[in-house]
Order: sequence, then C-alpha cells, then structure tokens
Amino acid sequence: MGLRFLVNFVLLALPIGITLGVLLGLQQHRDATGQGPIFGGDDDTGGGSTPDNDDVLKVQNCDKSFGIHPESKGQNYTLNPNQWGWDGKQGGLCLDVWTNNNKTYATDTSAPEWQVTWQYDQGDVDAPVHAFPNIKVEDVFPLQIKDISNIAIDFDWTYGVGDNASTTTDDTKLKAVTLNANVAMDMFLDSNKTQAASSTNATHELMVWFAALGTATQPLGMTKDTVTVYSAKNVTIDGVKFGLYFDENSSGQFVITWMAFEVVDTFTGDLYPLVEEVMTLGKSGKTAYAKFPSDTDYIGYMSWGTEAYYSAKNVTFNVASLSIDVKSS
Ligand SMILES: *[C@@H]1O[C@H](CO)[C@@H](O)[C@H](O)[C@H]1NC(C)=O
Ligand SMILES: *[C@@H]1O[C@H](CO)[C@@H](O)[C@H](O)[C@H]1NC(C)=O
Ligand SMILES: *[C@@H]1O[C@H](CO)[C@@H](O)[C@H](O)[C@H]1NC(C)=O
Ligand SMILES: *[C@@H]1O[C@H](CO)[C@@H](O)[C@H](O)[C@H]1NC(C)=O
Ligand SMILES: *[C@@H]1O[C@H](CO)[C@@H](O)[C@H](O)[C@H]1NC(C)=O
Ligand SMILES: *[C@@H]1O[C@H](CO)[C@@H](O)[C@H](O)[C@H]1NC(C)=O
Ligand SMILES: *[C@@H]1O[C@H](CO)[C@@H](O)[C@H](O)[C@H]1NC(C)=O
Ligand SMILES: *[C@@H]1O[C@H](CO)[C@@H](O)[C@H](O)[C@H]1NC(C)=O
Repeated sequence: MGLRFLVNFVLLALPIGITLGVLLGLQQHRDATGQGPIFGGDDDTGGGSTPDNDDVLKVQNCDKSFGIHPESKGQNYTLNPNQWGWDGKQGGLCLDVWTNNNKTYATDTSAPEWQVTWQYDQGDVDAPVHAFPNIKVEDVFPLQIKDISNIAIDFDWTYGVGDNASTTTDDTKLKAVTLNANVAMDMFLDSNKTQAASSTNATHELMVWFAALGTATQPLGMTKDTVTVYSAKNVTIDGVKFGLYFDENSSGQFVITWMAFEVVDTFTGDLYPLVEEVMTLGKSGKTAYAKFPSDTDYIGYMSWGTEAYYSAKNVTFNVASLSIDVKSS
C-alpha cells in the first residue's frame, strides 16, 4: 500500500546552522547601507535600527532545507523547513521563527515561537509527503534508552486555513481544503550510537503522533479502511489515549508509532512511558514484538513537527509554545 511511505521522515541535508548573531549582523549592515530588511520583518517595538535586549526578530526561510539555529541560553533547537519530498515546482512552504535577541525564552527548555505556511497539491500515491518542517532537539543525544528517565513535552499549536496563525484548529475548515498532515514527534534508534543519529541508517524509527489530519494520513501498520481502528496496545498519558502501530518499511527500517485517537493540540506530559512500553513488549518473548528495540539501544535523534502531504489552499501550522525536556538518570 502506497500510503505506507508517508511515515518516513528523511532529512535531505544536514541543517546548516545560522545563528541569530549572523542574522543581526546582516540586518544591521543592510540598515546601515539603506537596504530593506531581508527577513519578513522585525517585530521590533522598541524602535531604532539596532536591536534592543528585548527585541523579537522574525526570521523567515522558504528554502528546501536550510536550518535556523537561534542562539539560546537554555535548550538549543534547530528549525528546518525540510521540504525533502518537494520538486520545487508546484506549491511551497515558508518557515517563520520569532527569535529573542536576549537568547532567553519562557523557560530553560522553551523553543521560540514558530510557524509554517504551506500548500502542495496531492502527490504521487507512492510518495505523498512533501515536507517535514520540524524542530530538532540539540546537544542531548545520543542517549542509551535505559539511562533516560523523562521525556517531558508540552506544546500548544493550531492548524488553520490561510497565511496567518489561526486561534483554533477547526476541523470543518481543514476538511474543506482537504488538508492531509500529521503532527508528530520523531525519534531514531539503533544499537550503534552513531547510526542512531541517522534517519536512513538507524534500525528503528519511533514516533508519537498527536494528530492525523485527513483520511490519507495514517501510520505504518494501520489500515483506516476498516471500521475498527485496530491497535495492538493502548497507553494513556495526560488523559490522551495513544494506540500502538508498527511495521517494517520496504527498506527494512522498523517503524513504531504511538498515535493519539483524537487531535491533541495542547499537551503536557512525559512520553517516556511510551518508550518504556515498547521495551517491555520487546522483552515479552511474543513473536509479534521480536523486532522491537531494546533498552540498551540509543536514541540518536529527536525532532517534532508536521508532515505535510497536501492541501488545496494555504494552511498555517503555528506553534505558540513548545518545550522538550529530556532527563537522564
Ligand atoms: C528576553 O526577551 C523576551 C522577548 O522580548 C522577553 O519576554 C524576556 O522577558 C526577556 N528576558 C530577559 C531575561 O531579558
Ligand atoms: C546551547 O548552545 C550554546 C552555544 O553553542 C551553548 O553555549 C549552550 O551551552 C547550549 N545549551 C545547552 C543547554 O546545551
Ligand atoms: C501560500 O504560502 C506560500 C508559502 O508560504 C507563499 O509563498 C504564498 O504567497 C502563499 N499564497 C497565497 C495565495 O497567499
Ligand atoms: C496576516 O498577518 C499580516 C502580518 O501580521 C497582516 O498584515 C495581515 O493583515 C493578516 N491577514 C489577515 C487575513 O488577517
Ligand atoms: C558504529 O557505526 C559507525 C559508523 O558506521 C562505525 O564506524 C562504528 O564502528 C560502529 N560502532 C560499533 C561499536 O559497531
Ligand atoms: C550510514 O552507514 C554507512 C555505512 O556504515 C556510512 O557510510 C554512512 O556514512 C552512514 N550515513 C550516515 C548519515 O551516518
Ligand atoms: C525506509 O526507511 C528508511 C530509513 O528512514 C528510508 O531511507 C527509506 O526511504 C524507507 N523506505 C521506504 C520504502 O519508505
Ligand atoms: C485502543 O483504543 C481504541 C480506541 O478507543 C480501540 O478501538 C481499540 O480497540 C483499543 N485497543 C486495545 C488493544 O485495547
């Protein structure tokens, strides 16, 4: 089934870090030489051409794959439009990031506010994903699974029709433009800590889906065309029930997905029990779980974002707040 392809995230190129320092440098130079701003606009409320301590700068990137790495005094993140399945012809995507000049965000692990606006026509049924714009957790991995004690995440996002952030996620409006997309955390695992950092080489991919919008959006191992959405196992966190789906993809990577049965646009919880449950099933001796990873394996990569399949009109995915806090023992 062609739709199986849609669960695989691939980073086409390594993100190229551009720091806020560099952006400010460019901005100041252009101001000094009388040229206009190069990024979508400085939400500067303080006035003046030199950024003040509390200035917030909007950085925009519509490239295929070029990372934005805002400097932070806390947890570092890299944001990437990652249009890995886009041919550069029809449609497109722009990533906006609001970076704080003082390098300080709401909490030690808070990310800057960001959003993507995109539109793509329906793609090849065998390759329906155009992009996985995402925010990647830096400086934490690789970590051996048995050494992790907590994967705390909290977020607040909306998906809406148009070029601006919507205040709510209105399913009826999204259906009207045939939006197909998910919202997910993505992790790669391997017994080798170097390979665990590679989305192509890692033996396992582990995902947590917080939304599956549109009928074509389904995890590997699930068939939505049956009345009963079968899941091997359910686990509830923060009042949200996640169902377990898994299968091997055609290049032999074993893909495990925990999928929420409802749209979860606000969440505060620890995802480690989902990882732990996978390890427990792996040790159960049951044939069905024989290929599950083990707790001596490493998580080498973690990111969170939205897989963009298609939409008839522009849609905007806005992430007003996001924080990921991984603790090891
Ligand atoms: C940093 O800038 C942000 C955005 O203006 C502001 O909300 C925050 O209070 C500032 N923090 C510090 C420590 O100056
Ligand atoms: C974030 O990156 C900066 C610059 O590389 C570094 O000084 C800082 O220690 C990093 N923060 C964390 C929490 O690793
Ligand atoms: C749709 O979004 C793209 C990418 O953000 C943008 O370039 C384009 O102007 C938008 N189209 C319309 C009609 O607003
Ligand atoms: C979208 O946001 C831009 C920039 O903030 C604003 O100028 C424009 O009026 C907004 N459009 C709508 C339809 O709200
Ligand atoms: C892990 O993979 C790297 C890269 O392929 C390789 O160089 C290294 O020898 C491997 N380590 C182990 C312990 O197998
Ligand atoms: C994947 O593994 C191959 C063979 O060990 C190695 O040559 C390659 O560099 C690895 N790729 C990444 C992205 O680590
Ligand atoms: C299977 O997963 C690997 C690793 O992510 C990826 O390179 C490959 O394209 C996937 N294959 C298919 C058919 O989706
Ligand atoms: C998990 O929950 C879903 C949705 O409520 C239900 O359809 C399914 O039967 C449950 N699966 C198991 C294994 O309990």
